[in-house]
Amino acid sequence: MKKIEAIIRPSKLQDVQEGLKEAGIPCLTVVPVKGTGLQKSYSERYRGTEQTMILQTRIMIICVISDENLDKCIDVFLECAGTDQVGDGKIFIYDVQDAIRISTKVRGGEAIR
Ligand SMILES: Nc1ncnc2c1ncn2[C@@H]1O[C@H](COP(=O)(O)OP(=O)(O)OP(=O)(O)O)[C@@H](O)[C@H]1O
Ligand SMILES: [Mg+2]
Repeated sequence: MKKIEAIIRPSKLQDVQEGLKEAGIPCLTVVPVKGTGLQKSYSERYRGTEQTMILQTRIMIICVISDENLDKCIDVFLECAGTDQVGDGKIFIYDVQDAIRISTKVRGGEAIR
């Protein structure tokens, strides 16, 4: 199992959610976040005074998926979350040790199917 944390523009949430559903990945968690990335022009655009601490408003989408759905899931984010501009966001990928569906007590891959 893998966990994807994708930090994207709030305006892209609906497109991504629809794309994931169409790809057979219906489960997700959405978290409002603020942050900053590598690129610096964002802060320079802000007038005069020191603005390097400004944080951008983004959302984080968390998906826990089977290994076989990983490439499909990444493709959805690349196709649906981009504007070809800086600030489009990032995708982080983690290994997941286990998952448990509380209602059925089923563990492992079955818990996310
Ligand atoms: N290395 C990182 N660790 C944690 N969060 C990050 C990291 N890089 C980006 N983020 C988060 O993603 C958001 C969007 O990042 P952003 O797309 O602006 O990245 P960037 O490195 O500046 O690349 P770009 O040049 O495409 O803008 C940031 O506001 C921050 O919340
Ligand atoms: Mg940036």
